Amino acid sequence: MSTDEMRAVGFHKHGGIDNLQLLSVPKPDPGPEEVLVDVKAAALNHQDLIAVRELDHYIPDYPFWGGGGIAGVVAECGERVDDWTAGDRVVVNPALSCDECEFCLQGEQSMCADYEVFGEHRKGGFAEYVPVPRENLLSVPDDYDLRTAAAAPMAAGTAWRALADRAKVRPDDDVLLVGATGGVGTYAVQYATEVLNVQTLYGTTSSEEKATFLRDLGVDHVIDYTEEDFDSRIWELTDKRGVDVVYNNVGGDTWVPSMRSLTHGGRLVLSGATAGPNPASELRLMFVRQLEIYGSTTHSRTAFETAMGFIFDETVEPVVQERLPLEEYERAFKLMDQRKLYGKVVLTQD
Ligand SMILES: NC(=O)c1ccc[n+]([C@@H]2O[C@H](COP(=O)([O-])OP(=O)(O)OC[C@H]3O[C@@H](n4cnc5c(N)ncnc54)[C@H](OP(=O)(O)O)[C@@H]3O)[C@@H](O)[C@H]2O)c1
Ligand SMILES: [Zn+2]
Repeated sequence: MSTDEMRAVGFHKHGGIDNLQLLSVPKPDPGPEEVLVDVKAAALNHQDLIAVRELDHYIPDYPFWGGGGIAGVVAECGERVDDWTAGDRVVVNPALSCDECEFCLQGEQSMCADYEVFGEHRKGGFAEYVPVPRENLLSVPDDYDLRTAAAAPMAAGTAWRALADRAKVRPDDDVLLVGATGGVGTYAVQYATEVLNVQTLYGTTSSEEKATFLRDLGVDHVIDYTEEDFDSRIWELTDKRGVDVVYNNVGGDTWVPSMRSLTHGGRLVLSGATAGPNPASELRLMFVRQLEIYGSTTHSRTAFETAMGFIFDETVEPVVQERLPLEEYERAFKLMDQRKLYGKVVLTQD
């Protein structure tokens, strides 16, 4: 491979994960306000599965590769970048914004009209190098493993914004996490227990093995939704009161049961629709119980830095099931596709 080329795990067409290939592609140059990051590790996020399967309306050009959770070392700085130096250890804030619109000026970067995210609108970290706007970098402490740091940026920031900024979870809240074992879920468990100190934490999952994992991670009551309806179980466990907050990143058939699990004035916060974006709804429950519904997407810049701060001071520990070399991408994608994942899987490079 020439020095103008690099390796990337990407795809030319959409469909199953067998469309992914190890490619040789041109090595990018950083723009004047960008930094070229030498990627040391990139985590899979569910968006990487969605991208290869169907996200053709976002993809700028082909081949495309995902990887929104990126950690690495600064390789080269654009001509107008003077705040980063070659060799700096960094993670990448995956949320891109204009910094000028009304929402950016309010500090709500993920509401930006020009919002983009690495892995959907921009090629991400499943490659040797990635150009990143200078303001999207955050320093990683010297003693913090980059292969662990990569597991956090997308999933942790998303969980933190949903719980802390959107649903405004308080210590006296009872909280239910629907979709607790995956990337976002395992951070949500830890922010809820270690930072927000919720009263009682409930979580759903799909097997006894995963239930044991969630109990060990700190969930007080785990409900296996393949064995029983989780809303009925919540009703029993809360003595017919319901919980204050449901954090749902699954959608589909879990939507109405999530509403039914809430108490009066309960808050339902949603940041994903893994099981389907067009579920039935239950309008009477919304007005009779006076529910509040919040959408949530990645994070503001402040939320990102706050979320990462709890990672770097080790209040929250990324759950990384496997760290695999980039060329073992097929195993990594299969783990996620087949729902065998506990937390995160990270693709690494020397
Ligand atoms: N809005 C945003 O900015 C944002 C950011 C990050 C992620 N997301 C979205 O949030 C969702 C979770 O992302 P993630 O990276 O945490 O995914 P992940 O690691 O693959 O975790 C998904 C979890 O959802 C559960 N699940 C329940 N029903 C499922 C189904 N029908 N298919 C697949 N999984 C199902 C699974 O756990 P059990 O088997 O234990 O139920 C799985 O562990 C995705 O939809 C993603 O696109 C959105
Ligand atoms: Zn903006």
